Amino acid sequence: MKNIVVLVSGGGTNLQVLIDAQKSGVIKNGKIVCVISSNPNAYALERARKNNIKTRTLVRKDYPDSVEYSKDILKAIQEEKADLVVYAGFMTIIDELVVKAMPNKMINIHPSLIPSFCGKGYYGLHVHEEVLKRGVKVTGATAHFVNEVCDGGPIIIQKAVEVQNGDTPEILQKRVMEQAEWKILPKAVSLFCEDKIIVKDNKTEILD
Ligand code: GAR
Repeated sequence: MKNIVVLVSGGGTNLQVLIDAQKSGVIKNGKIVCVISSNPNAYALERARKNNIKTRTLVRKDYPDSVEYSKDILKAIQEEKADLVVYAGFMTIIDELVVKAMPNKMINIHPSLIPSFCGKGYYGLHVHEEVLKRGVKVTGATAHFVNEVCDGGPIIIQKAVEVQNGDTPEILQKRVMEQAEWKILPKAVSLFCEDKIIVKDNKTEILD
């Protein structure tokens, strides 16, 4: 059984989907052992507590710089004996020392079809605002491994979602979550826990 640590900062709907997927057996061979939040007021913490999952809170402004903060994040991850770390709406930038310690062992869910609308500054609602500004007709979500490049790691699963007339960033965000994020994130996590993802040349191959 693989130990999963989930990093959150906000509402935690993706965390909830992972909790539900664990309960219903959709995630095979994996267990959420701890939720770490960068925000003490994140509702995600409440979701974890309701499900008797251990929580930790590490706030960036309590540290002099990103390196010191990241050292403590890594320490927490190692103390929890994490085999997999999931970024589920984790909005705090951390130093590459964490990724280097967990190569291809950290999965992020991003609310667009990478390499579109990703990288520095593209997070949360901003992504959907930019999608609507540009007028693309199709967007979606991507589950990918985290590497040293922001949103640049090997892609595991993507799912497309249509942009519709009259969409606001909020409406589009909800559709992308419902139709894409909440479907592909548990799938990617389960594939990892079942050792079904092979990484080569910054790409993945999924074993059936
Ligand atoms: C999700 O849409 C997730 O894809 C996005 O933040 C939201 C968090 O929602 N993440 C990023 O933009 C990362 N670059 P949640 O807290 O309800 O899961």
